[in-house]
Amino acid sequence: PVERTLSIIKPDAVEKNRTGAILAHLEEAGFKILALRRTHLTRAEAEGFYAVHKARPFFGELVEFMTRSPVVIAVLEREDAVNAYRKVMGATDPAKADAGTLRKLFGSSVGENAVHGSDSLENAKIEISYYFPGSLVSPTA
Ligand code: CMP
Repeated sequence: PVERTLSIIKPDAVEKNRTGAILAHLEEAGFKILALRRTHLTRAEAEGFYAVHKARPFFGELVEFMTRSPVVIAVLEREDAVNAYRKVMGATDPAKADAGTLRKLFGSSVGENAVHGSDSLENAKIEISYYFPGSLVSPTA
């Protein structure tokens, strides 16, 4: 089915001026960009977004990184969007990501890995509404 997912182009990739290259890659892969916003996340926004990781040892580092400089957040739509975008991103660790994936192409470490994507359809709905309150959550919403 046609689904929506949330993508974040992280500070490392935005700093390197790779935003356009990543968005072009996503359009080539068949995703429609339904919404797009560049923003410098506050500490509270980053902590809230990554609340499920609060107990992890890397939480502080993750929040530091995500608030270091602006991010570009997008709502993407495609058939099977959640899984398709996860494939396009590649493994969390760029060193383990397949050739041609966004994290292999643009990431540099497990922390600075260029992009975030929702890990399930349920979380996609939560994540889209976190950054885009309104009617973007799903094709039928
Ligand atoms: P993301 O998909 O944005 O969701 C949680 C993030 O935590 C993940 O991508 C990684 O970039 C980050 N992460 C995972 N493991 C580590 C780690 N060991 N050190 C720093 N960041 C990590």
